[in-house]
Amino acid sequence: MFRLILLCCLVVANAVHLPENFKLCSKKDPDFGNCVGTNMMDALSKLKDGNKNLGVPSLEPFSIDRMEIPGNEAASVNLNQNYKSVKFYGMSQGIAKNVKIDLENCHWSFNAISPKIQMLSEYEMKGKLLVFPINGFGKSNTTMTDLDVRYEIDCSYNEKNGKKYMKFDKIKMNMKPGKVYFNFENLFPGNAQMSATLDKTVNENSEVVFNDVKSAFEEVFSQIWNNLANSVLSKVPIDEIFLN
Ligand SMILES: *[C@@H]1O[C@H](CO)[C@@H](O)[C@H](O)[C@H]1NC(C)=O
Repeated sequence: MFRLILLCCLVVANAVHLPENFKLCSKKDPDFGNCVGTNMMDALSKLKDGNKNLGVPSLEPFSIDRMEIPGNEAASVNLNQNYKSVKFYGMSQGIAKNVKIDLENCHWSFNAISPKIQMLSEYEMKGKLLVFPINGFGKSNTTMTDLDVRYEIDCSYNEKNGKKYMKFDKIKMNMKPGKVYFNFENLFPGNAQMSATLDKTVNENSEVVFNDVKSAFEEVFSQIWNNLANSVLSKVPIDEIFLN
């Protein structure tokens, strides 16, 4: 008897529903992909302060303790970059375009366009930036405007307690920012003039610098979105996300 009661309550505790203000799409919608795209971005803006039931932390800002980007000998930016107390702003805002969702083969593809993503952090970096030897630390601000990210997502289905769930297995992304601004204070510790000159040079070459850190950024953001999406997808059955 005791056991039965426990079982009943565990199952109840497991059943998480989407917030009532989320808009849903029907699989029969002729424009299903773009309907999901619109509602997904709307859901993100509604999740900006986080949602405990769904296991989603605050998105404005979204915080991570540490982020490490190792150097790359072949690149113009051969830097070991360590970021601490990282805060991202702007992740809850954007629009989705060209959304295709193949439910049968479980594959998503879409572009997400964000007007502005800001990353504020404490940084430490060591190595070579363009032609300059670097050993700096301080506050940093990396800002991307008109960021267009192409996503290709492989997913799969699983069953728990007789309900079907979706899981994102792999997120591949290609980030194309309109413009990137870097602000690293104190790149040359003790030499404010050199630090400012170098920061200016970095910004004048922001495209080159970004291209060398792009894949590391894509890696970090894939992991972030994969964790966030799976936190929701592992709790809410798929038939409560996509209507019949
Ligand atoms: C970060 O940099 C962007 C672009 O230069 C700027 O608009 C923004 O005000 C900066 N943010 C902070 C907190 O310094």
